[in-house]
Formats: sequence, C-alpha cells, structure tokens
Amino acid sequence: MIFRDSELSNLNEIPKTVILLIDNNERIIESCGKQLGLFNINSKNLKLNSLFKKDIYLLLKSLLNKKIKTVNISLNNVIFEVNLQQVPNSKSKALYFFDITKYSSIENELKKSMHDLVSKKEELQAVFDLAANGISILDRNGMFLYANNFFQKMMGYSMEELYKESCISLSSEEYKKPSETAVEKAIKEGSVVNFRKVCVSKSGEHMNASMSLSYVKVTDTIVMITSDITDDIKYQEDLKRQVELQVAKRTEQYEIMCHQSRLAAMGEMIDSIAHQWRQPLNGLGIIVQGLRHISNNQQINKELLCEIELEIMEKVNYMSQTIDDFSNFFRISKQKESFDLLKNVNDAVRLIDVQLKLNNINVEISVKENTDLDILGFPNEFRQVIMNMVHNAMMAIINKKENKGYILINISPLDTVTEVTILDNGGGIEEQYLEKIFDPYFTTREKGSGIGLYMSKVIIEHHMKGRLTVNNQNKGTKFTMLLPKGKD
Ligand SMILES: Nc1ncnc2c1ncn2[C@@H]1O[C@H](COP(=O)(O)OP(=O)(O)OP(=O)(O)O)[C@@H](O)[C@H]1O
Ligand SMILES: [Mg+2]
Repeated sequence: MIFRDSELSNLNEIPKTVILLIDNNERIIESCGKQLGLFNINSKNLKLNSLFKKDIYLLLKSLLNKKIKTVNISLNNVIFEVNLQQVPNSKSKALYFFDITKYSSIENELKKSMHDLVSKKEELQAVFDLAANGISILDRNGMFLYANNFFQKMMGYSMEELYKESCISLSSEEYKKPSETAVEKAIKEGSVVNFRKVCVSKSGEHMNASMSLSYVKVTDTIVMITSDITDDIKYQEDLKRQVELQVAKRTEQYEIMCHQSRLAAMGEMIDSIAHQWRQPLNGLGIIVQGLRHISNNQQINKELLCEIELEIMEKVNYMSQTIDDFSNFFRISKQKESFDLLKNVNDAVRLIDVQLKLNNINVEISVKENTDLDILGFPNEFRQVIMNMVHNAMMAIINKKENKGYILINISPLDTVTEVTILDNGGGIEEQYLEKIFDPYFTTREKGSGIGLYMSKVIIEHHMKGRLTVNNQNKGTKFTMLLPKGKD
C-alpha cells in the first residue's frame, strides 16, 4: 500500500486528475481521482495493455520507456495530458492523467484565430499591393510608416527612402502648409476627405492628387489613400476648353443670325418705306406740277402759297415720321424694361400698314380687358417679332390669293402673364412643317431667309422668358405668346 486510506480518500477528490500507480510489470496497483470512472477499472491488478486500447497503450509505453516526456490521449471525448513520475522509495511508477479538454479546445480556437488572422493579414496585404490607388500609413507627424507598391511607384520612392519622408515633404511648396493642416485635422476630427493638392515625385514631376486621410486612434496612425488625378484634371480642362470653343462658335453663329434677321427685317421695311412714300411722293409731284400751272396762269397770292406750304409740310412730316419710326425700330434695347404692349403692337403693325391695305388685309387688334398691359422685356425686339408675324401672315394670305384677308391680334391679361394671339386666314401651315418653322433657316418663301420665327422664339423665350407656340386654326395659323407682366 503506497497511499494510506486517509490519503487515498483525499486523492479521490482531486478534480480533473487521475493517478494510476503501476508496478514493474505494468500492473495497476492503485488508482485514484475524481474522473476515475472514465477508466473503467473493474478488477484488481489489471495490466495497462488490457485497460487501454492498443494505440493509447503504445503511447503510454513510450512514456514509460522515457522516450517522450508527456503524451496526450483521448478517452471518451476527454483529453488527458499524461506524465510519468517515479514514486520515491518504491519501484512503482505513477502515471498522472490531467484533464486538459477545456484548455485544448481553447488552444484549438486560439490556433484557428491565429490562422484566420494570418490569412486576413495576407488578404489585406494583397489588397494593399494590388490596389490601383496609393495606400500609405503615416504617424501623427505625417511621416511614412508603410506605403503600398502603387504609392511607391507613383512617387518613385522605395520604402526605405519613404521612411525618411513625410506627406508634407512630398508636397509642392504651396501645399506644404495645407498638408500639415490636413494631418492635424484628420487627427482632430477623425478624417479628411478629398483633399486636393500637388505632390512632387522623386524625379521632381508635379502631380495633381486627391487624398483621403483617416485617423486610427488605437494605433495613433493615419491611413492615407492617394489618387493621381492629373489626367482627370487635364481631361476636365480639355473639356472646359472645348465647351468654351463651342460656346464661342455658337455665340458667333448666333450673332450672325441676329445680323441676318435684322437684314431680313430691314429688307421688309425698306419695302414698306417704298410703299409708304409712294403716295406722298406722288402728292408732292402733283403739287410741283400744279405750282408751274399756277405760276403760268394766275398770280400767286400769299394765301395760296400758305395752303401749298401746309400741304407740302404735311407730306414731308409724314415721310420724316416714317423714317423716324424705322430708325427707332432698329435701335437695340439694352436692358429689360416695362413697356406698353398695345402701343408697341400698334407701332409694329403701322410699319407695314400700307402694304396690308394695298393687299386688302384687315388687321384687328382687340384687347379683352383694358387693364394693366405693361409687360417686361425688350420693346424693340418685341416689335420685330410682331412685325415678322404680321408680315408672315400677310405673305400667306397673298400666297393663298385670299381676297378678304384678316389678321386678328388678341390681347388678354391672365394671372401672371399676358397672352397675345395672332390669327390669320392664310391657309395655315402644313402639318409636316409645324415642328420645323422655329428652326433656323427653315423657309418656304422664295425670298425668305427662315430666320424670322427662329429669332422670335429666341427673343420671346430666352430673352423675355415667355412662351411662343403655334397651331393651325380654322383656315389659318395661330401664334400664341405668353409674356411676363411688367412692374408698375
Ligand atoms: N402665318 C403663317 N402662315 C403660313 N405659314 C407661315 C406663317 N408664318 C410662318 N410660316 C411658315 O414658316 C416659315 C418660316 O417663317 P420665318 O418667319 O421664320 O421665315 P420667313 O418668313 O420664310 O423668312 P424671314 O426670315 O424673312 O422671316 C415660312 O417660310 C412659312 O413657311
Ligand atoms: Mg418671316
């Protein structure tokens, strides 16, 4: 008996440990421990090789032979670490079985976590190395602690060289201070996004870059992502230049059109002047002939002379008024102003009044509510629009050989706008052309330039912020304008 009974009962209470005492013949002479039940020792003097399965026995054997110092075995899902001890003053040996199931599962989990960590690190490294952006890690002074391949290539520095540099030292002179501020701001606020600056590479090349900095508190470091946007900026600048060029071209084209439209209107007006002067000129001719007749046959008295003078002056005044009307017409309005709609419609119509009468065309202007007729815009351009529309209507009526031509101009103030409609009985516009009449250079008239309605659309919608539309109605065309009201 190696243990006394009292000792044995104590030993039987040892948790997580089983002790087997064996003699020289590997016979189990004593056993104790709380988990002894797992070993199933059902008879005395049982030998080791009959208690354990062969594989376990062989492991224990090499322990007994002192080939190894410790072995791990598994019994009914419990893992034991086994140690061998020589019992002092005896030939017996003690096999200590320590239950390490818990530790072994923790160890396994730890191993797994370590493995996961290593593979995550490798994954991250791959992301860093394959990223098409510069990724670097800086200390709180902006000094490089790490930079991925892309960043090293982009800046032309090796990692060894970068250790001696900072994101501030790699900035162009004017961006050194802002870079310093960006680092400070990232530490203070957590991040700085899309900070644009110019970097200088090792070879001295300047590069436009966009940086995002993010402060990592636990490591007191800054992760910096750098994108080279030199090409983007160049592309944007090219695009801007292209747009400017196109705008300049458009402006030039637009100015040419304005000029053409004025020339067209001028042509139409010279026609009108010719018509308007024909009558007074004839009248003057008759007076001059009459004068000769009077001087031959009778004495000219003062009274008669006065009468003749009055008649001549009336005609001359009429002619000079016509010239004034036309010259006013061609003055460009420089600023938006409030103007009287009805007066300007009347003025425009008056300019081609003679031709209208000659072609037996009746123009009727009706105002639904004679209240506030002021509108906001450019009066001279507006008169040009009305004149072109009345002229177009007249040409359509002449073309249709309509002998009772009429043009109805209707003015009705609505809530915030004033509506002006111009309706004629010139036969309307062919359905297929309705979409095109506002296009520049679209004309069906032999002598037309096709700019009148295009300019009208530009003047009403772009310059005066109104609306201009067209539709066919009854036997003619109806243009509708919505014009913003003027201020009092
Ligand atoms: N009241 C109308 N009735 C019928 N057709 C019209 C009327 N107004 C315009 N059109 C059609 O729209 C076309 C374009 O008119 P627009 O005023 O732009 O040019 P134009 O009168 O031909 O030339 P201009 O530049 O000299 O005014 C005309 O050629 C004509 O075919
Ligand atoms: Mg026209």
